[in-house]
Amino acid sequence: NTYVIIMAGGVGTRFWPFSRTTYPKQFHDVLGTGRSLLQQTVDRFDGICPPENIFIVTSSEYRDLVKQQLPHLDDDQILLEPYRRNTAPCIAYACYKIAARDPEANIVVAPADHIILKEDVFRDTIRVALGATRMDDILVTLGIQPTRPDTGYGYIQYIPDKMTVKKVKTFTEKPHHELAVQFLESGDFVWNAGIFVWNVQALKKAVRKYMPEVAELFEEGTEHYFTAEEAAFIGKTYSHCGSVSIDNGIMEKADNVHVVLSSFGWSDLGTWKSLYEISEKDENQNVAEGTLLLHDTSDCIIKTPKDQLVVVNGLHGFIVAQYDGVLLICRKDDEQKVKELVAEAKEID
Ligand code: GDD
Ligand code: MG
Repeated sequence: NTYVIIMAGGVGTRFWPFSRTTYPKQFHDVLGTGRSLLQQTVDRFDGICPPENIFIVTSSEYRDLVKQQLPHLDDDQILLEPYRRNTAPCIAYACYKIAARDPEANIVVAPADHIILKEDVFRDTIRVALGATRMDDILVTLGIQPTRPDTGYGYIQYIPDKMTVKKVKTFTEKPHHELAVQFLESGDFVWNAGIFVWNVQALKKAVRKYMPEVAELFEEGTEHYFTAEEAAFIGKTYSHCGSVSIDNGIMEKADNVHVVLSSFGWSDLGTWKSLYEISEKDENQNVAEGTLLLHDTSDCIIKTPKDQLVVVNGLHGFIVAQYDGVLLICRKDDEQKVKELVAEAKEID
């Protein structure tokens, strides 16, 4: 049986001030389609698994937001984390819980903050990956042709054979800039889309091997999942659990990682620049939304409230974003720094 786990507990810091701790980007209708990124993510799996096999993992503070946006989900399908521990514990929790009900489960793990333009191609790709993981002890990820030396992604080097599901040689999470340039130039690398497919036994085996302390914690819950004790068990478990991403914790280390090369119009709406890349631009390569008077301004992404006139002169390659009482002005190339800026700003904000 197929299950889908949607990770929706991040705060989307690099998309600040639009994405905020109280209302992160996955709950926003970023593209103005009438559906939030989270809702779009759920919609995308229509036909891949029955609706009752979709699980959302999020921070307990977003419980009401999730229930509001996905009213058809049962409480058991919303997994609440008492603390943010990054994606490895989030995935372990959901996989161990699903395993308690279905030890044969074949699982897709997806982030809640992606844009996928060709949904049919996406579903076909997922089906190929599910076909490969059903019986095999492998961890499959989807690979995207890289277009720039972005340091916000994982880079995957694969063995270039004729197989659809290719064996991975190396997995490097968020390399520094020089290394990313090298990877891009070598032509052997794809970006990790952050969408994973595996059967629950393969995942449990990998957690046991590479994160034994995490395996031990979640294995103890087998009788508690789907019962009234689950919340208390998870509260205790998370307080003992360190913070680590699945990419650093498992994917970089495992020797049974495989990749399916994909092209379904993917974008991680992780940063201002990624929104810039996918948005329509004016004749000066600006992406501009608001009541604006622009002179000699190019390559900018400007998003300000409509009820405020903003006059800009002589600005090139900048992010100007105003949302909910905060104004950010930052060089577009420095966008990975937004995380640090937010940390500093939070001390004042
Ligand atoms: N439930 C839960 N709990 N979800 C979380 C947590 C957490 O503690 N932390 C992050 N998430 C969710 C985010 O909301 C997002 O949907 C997803 O997990 C991925 O987290 P990000 O923080 O956005 O990861 P990333 O973009 O820096 O890197 C990952 O994705 C890239 C592609 O988008 C990695 O997998 C990279 O290798 C990959 O290239
Ligand atoms: Mg992301």
